[in-house]
Parts: sequence; C-alpha cells; structure tokens
Amino acid sequence: MTRRLYLLLLLLLVTAEISLTKFSAGAVGVNWGTEASHPLPPSKVVELLKSNGIAKVKLFDADPKVLRALSGSNIGVTVGIPNSMIRSLNASRKVAESWVHDNVTRYFDGGNRVRIEYVAVGDEPFLQSYGNQYRPFVIGAAMNIHNALAKASLASEVKVVVPSSFDSFLSESGRPSSGRFRADLNKTMIELLSFLTRHHSPFFVTISPFISFHQNKNISLDFSLFKETAKAHKDGRKAYRNSFDLSYNTLLSALSSIGFPDVDIVVSKIGWPTDGAANATSPTAEAFLKGLMGHLEKKTGSSPRFPVETYIESLLDEDKRNVSSGNFERHWGVFTFDGQAKYSFSFNHNAKKLVNAQNVQYLPPKWCVVNNNKDLSNASTKALEACSLSDCTSILPGGSCSGIGWPRNVSYAFNSLYQQSDHKAESCDFGGLGLITTVDPSEDKCRFWIQLDTSHSSPHIPIFFLSLSLLLLFLLS
Ligand SMILES: *[C@@H]1O[C@H](CO)[C@@H](O)[C@H](O)[C@H]1NC(C)=O
Ligand SMILES: *[C@@H]1O[C@H](CO)[C@@H](O)[C@H](O)[C@H]1NC(C)=O
Ligand SMILES: *[C@@H]1O[C@H](CO)[C@@H](O)[C@H](O)[C@H]1NC(C)=O
Ligand SMILES: *[C@@H]1O[C@H](CO)[C@@H](O)[C@H](O)[C@H]1NC(C)=O
Ligand SMILES: *[C@@H]1O[C@H](CO)[C@@H](O)[C@H](O)[C@H]1NC(C)=O
Ligand SMILES: *[C@@H]1O[C@H](CO)[C@@H](O)[C@H](O)[C@H]1NC(C)=O
Ligand SMILES: *[C@@H]1O[C@H](CO)[C@@H](O)[C@H](O)[C@H]1NC(C)=O
Ligand SMILES: *[C@@H]1O[C@H](CO)[C@@H](O)[C@H](O)[C@H]1NC(C)=O
Repeated sequence: MTRRLYLLLLLLLVTAEISLTKFSAGAVGVNWGTEASHPLPPSKVVELLKSNGIAKVKLFDADPKVLRALSGSNIGVTVGIPNSMIRSLNASRKVAESWVHDNVTRYFDGGNRVRIEYVAVGDEPFLQSYGNQYRPFVIGAAMNIHNALAKASLASEVKVVVPSSFDSFLSESGRPSSGRFRADLNKTMIELLSFLTRHHSPFFVTISPFISFHQNKNISLDFSLFKETAKAHKDGRKAYRNSFDLSYNTLLSALSSIGFPDVDIVVSKIGWPTDGAANATSPTAEAFLKGLMGHLEKKTGSSPRFPVETYIESLLDEDKRNVSSGNFERHWGVFTFDGQAKYSFSFNHNAKKLVNAQNVQYLPPKWCVVNNNKDLSNASTKALEACSLSDCTSILPGGSCSGIGWPRNVSYAFNSLYQQSDHKAESCDFGGLGLITTVDPSEDKCRFWIQLDTSHSSPHIPIFFLSLSLLLLFLLS
C-alpha cells in the first residue's frame, strides 16, 4: 500500500516537472549555436533550457547528439540546414528526401520524440554580404524540403521556413512607412512569401536594434534600449518610441508593398551582445532584454501585428563564430560559453533570475601568462600568432579587456591559446616567453577564462537515475 502511495507521489512529481517545461512565456525561445571550440555538452544545455523555462529552441544544423539530448523534452525545435547545402537541395529531390529522412523523420519514430516544429532552410542566406551565392537556390531548396516532408506525412506538423536577415528590408528615408525589401531581393521575396502563405508557414526574420545602433548615427542608445525618455522618431502622424518598433514597422510596410500584409511573423533572432563593441556590455544587454520582454508582453507597439514567436540571440557565447561583421559576434550569449548567467534576467514570470548550468566540468585552474623576467621584444609577435589561432576579441578595441595594457594583453593572448589547446604544455611555450601559473590573472571586468574539459564523454545519467530509482523502490518496498 505504502509503495503504491510513493509511486503515485513520484508520478505526481514527474507530471509537475513536465507541466513546468510546457510553459509558453508568450512563445519566447532561444537560438542555440554550436560554433564553439569547447561546446557545453548537449545534455547540460537541455538541462539549462529546462531549468530556465525555455520552451523553444532554434538550431543551425541537425546534430544527432543535440537532437538526442532534446528527445522527450517537449521543447519545440527548429532544425537548421546550413547555407552550404542549399544548392544541392535545390538541385535534387533525392538529396532533400534523404536530408528529411536522416534529420527529421527519424526523430518522429518511437517513444522519445523530438518536437520538431520548423525546418529552417539556410541561416540568413539573403545577407547582403553573401551576394548571389545562395539566393537563386533558396526557394527551390525550400520546395524540395517541403515535398520531402509531405511524402513522409509530416508537412502539417513541420513547417519549412527561411530565416531572412536584418538587411533584407530597409527604408531609405528612415521612415517605416516607406519600408521595402532590398531591390535585388524583391522577386525572391515575392516567391518566398507565396510559398510560405501557401503552406501556412510564418516569415522568419532577424530584427537587430543592436546593429541599427552600431551602424546608424541617428539611432540613440536610449531609443534602442526601450527607455521612456528616448526621443521619438516621427513618421507622419505616427511616433515610434523605440528602435524595435521602428524596424518592425519598416518590415510590415515591406511585406505590404509586395502584397503580403497578413503573414505571421517570427522574430528568429534578436539580442544584444556583451563584448567586442562600444556599449556591448552586460548592463546594456540586460536593459535591452528586459525592455524587449516588457514590450512584447504589453503589445503596445504602434501595430497590432506583433510577432507570434521570438527567438533570443543567443543562448551561449561561441568562440569560433566568424567575426567579419564585428568582434561582438562571439558574445551574443545570455549565458557565457560555460552556461553561467551574465546578468539578471528571466525567461518566465515564475522566476526572478536565470539559473546557471550545473556541475560544469572545467580544465584544472591553470593559466598561461607571459614571463616578465624574459626579454619581451618578441612578445607582441607571439601574441599575434596566438590570437590568429584562438579568440582574442576581448582585448581588441571596444572589448572588455582592451584597457589592460601591454604586456598583460600578451598574457591574455597566450592564455587564450593555452585554454583552447586543452592545457597542452607546448601550447604555453611561445619561444620560452610563456609561464604556467595557478594564480588567476583576471581583474575587474577582464576575465581570463578557463576552458571546459571536453575529454570525458558525457556521464551515463539515465543509467544513474535508473539505478537510483531501483534503489528507491527497493528501500520503499
Ligand atoms: C534548381 O533546381 C532545379 C531542378 O533541378 C533546376 O532546374 C534549377 O535550374 C535550379 N535553380 C538554379 C537557380 O540553378
Ligand atoms: C543531416 O544533417 C546533418 C547536420 O546538418 C548533415 O551533416 C547531414 O548531411 C544531413 N543528412 C543528410 C542525409 O543530408
Ligand atoms: C517590388 O515588387 C512590387 C510588386 O510587384 C512592385 O510594386 C515594386 O515596384 C517592386 N520594387 C522594386 C524595387 O523592384
Ligand atoms: C533622426 O532621428 C530623429 C529623431 O530622433 C528624426 O526626427 C529624424 O528624422 C532622423 N533623421 C534621419 C535622417 O533619419
Ligand atoms: C556607451 O559607449 C560610449 C562610448 O564608449 C560611452 O561613453 C557611454 O558611457 C556608454 N553608455 C553606456 C550606457 O554604457
Ligand atoms: C567569414 O565571413 C566572410 C563574409 O561572409 C567570408 O568572406 C569569410 O570567408 C568567412 N570566414 C570564415 C573563416 O569562414
Ligand atoms: C626575436 O625573433 C627574431 C626572429 O625570429 C630572432 O632572430 C630573435 O633572436 C628574437 N629575439 C629574442 C630576444 O628572442
Ligand atoms: C597590447 O597593447 C598594446 C598597447 O596598448 C598594443 O599596442 C598591442 O597591439 C596590444 N596587443 C594585442 C595582441 O592586442
């Protein structure tokens, strides 16, 4: 009898946990990218998503390790197709069918399903800097993926989308009412929106108040951060009180101008980085995200057509992201690379603060610094070499460590390569200028990181819990 009672209790607890993860939070999700030298193990990331009540996640590929970790979690998933595959997916239905078979259908079989909601064709393939590399193949690829999903009887559950970049639409005058798509994209956008509306799929698009601020002298920081005191931008009789509404309404005009005023909109990327540029700091990122969440909840924008879902850019920092558009690219995370909160924020109403990743495995507490007792005339050259192989974005202009001076910035560079090389002794040589220390060289706002220990395969948690529950059952009976 008591045993049954305990089992019932256990069942109740499990149900309580499941209903917690079902929290919808006005459909706010995160982008989970994995361009990191030492990625946090997928099982830890999924725990992080759950403990923060994050109900939706957007991926940039379809890594089986990541999808397996998401199986049975009830988290809504967008799987991504890398830009490099778009051309072959347009050229061949067979290629699209095997992509869908390997990366979607497989996860709908059996008990531990992955709740795949969208397949994203490309990652912002219309970015202006890509020119015509992908554009001509995107719609064909999207159609082939859709047909492959239909063939697998998944087309009603899984929608095909194409994430469009912040620079796919614009307004020359700066007034939202004259918003339109980039001239070279006009035809493609009409094809894309026809495809999307035919299949009841939403339009995925990046809105980037940070880039607007970074590139546009006329956009103030207060206007970007939803400050009430910011000077409004006028457009005829309308007044826009923040940068998000300005961009969003520019987009709405662009959609109307090609005849699609009613398509559902998903903001597939929006965020604020914390390093690598002026005003990219934790306090500004915190102010931005709090402002954005408050704004989305109030829905008091100048248009009633608010996004149906919003994906924060991004969950974690990634030290291997391409920095051609700016050093801030490696610092979009709400959490640092190791899953630790950068500021006070929460994804759901029930929580006050972010919950950190637990039991993270780090390399031992050792750093590589420059040996000040040596002749340092070649130190800067060695530092540049280290930086070409590792992440030095924090010591470059605008970075959080840009003020530490020479030769401490040489130490930063040496340590960066040493950590990335998993503490291999020879990676701290630098022609005899490197020195391994157990004293943390960090100061104020400049952190000298210790990398994650990725040498161990992930522990067998399911087996651990299985044995624990067996033990419990044994004790209770
Ligand atoms: C896309 O694929 C189709 C079918 O193979 C082909 O006819 C078309 O030329 C391709 N599109 C482009 C732009 O190459
Ligand atoms: C499935 O997705 C992965 C990751 O994006 C990719 O490497 C692989 O080629 C895909 N499978 C097929 C059959 O295309
Ligand atoms: C884009 O297409 C729309 C609808 O066909 C048209 O009215 C508009 O003039 C086009 N704009 C450009 C820049 O080509
Ligand atoms: C610059 O911003 C102000 C509002 O702060 C607005 O009135 C003005 O029209 C803008 N100018 C341009 C060129 O966008
Ligand atoms: C933004 O950056 C500028 C230039 O570095 C600085 O003067 C200003 O204090 C910063 N403002 C905030 C709120 O961080
Ligand atoms: C980074 O992006 C730029 C612009 O898209 C591209 O030219 C360059 O090849 C990329 N670098 C790497 C390492 O992928
Ligand atoms: C600095 O590097 C140059 C070229 O590699 C080398 O000839 C010189 O001996 C080095 N100087 C010191 C102090 O190590
Ligand atoms: C280190 O700082 C010095 C002086 O501020 C600067 O000249 C040098 O370029 C910096 N080195 C690196 C690798 O950033």
